[in-house]
Amino acid sequence: MPMPDWNVRELTPGQLSERSGVAVSALHFYEKQGLIVSRRTSGNQRRYPRETLRRVAFIRISQKVGIPLAEIRQALAELPEGRTPTKRDWAKLSARWHADLDHRIAQLVRLRDDLTGCIGCGCLSMTSCALANPNDELAKSGPGARRLDVDL
Ligand code: FES
Repeated sequence: MPMPDWNVRELTPGQLSERSGVAVSALHFYEKQGLIVSRRTSGNQRRYPRETLRRVAFIRISQKVGIPLAEIRQALAELPEGRTPTKRDWAKLSARWHADLDHRIAQLVRLRDDLTGCIGCGCLSMTSCALANPNDELAKSGPGARRLDVDL
């Protein structure tokens, strides 16, 4: 299926799928979840406003970095309904998400940097565990990888 022309204001599910790289079934799922909306033609076919491409891109990127769908939905709910979100609308959404994204970035950096050492998970399988978590001392402070979570 050819890509939709740049000046087409509404996209069929196939066109939206083609340009976004997201399967039609996933688009229907997003719609069912209230993440995107379409209108129906007189022939009961879906049509998506072109700006849905940006919403879908936002959803995909957010999912890739591990943000749950419920949080993505909450964020998208900040955008106006019934009109194309402006730069200002997206900036407002971005500002509200800033702290959460900073937290996730810190978590990923810690994962990247600390995964080769003892993470305090209780396995005691690495030589560094004897020093970093002797006799699984970290178990006293709670479950999980005690040295990996930035909240701990
Ligand atoms: S890596 Fe699991 S306790 Fe050290």
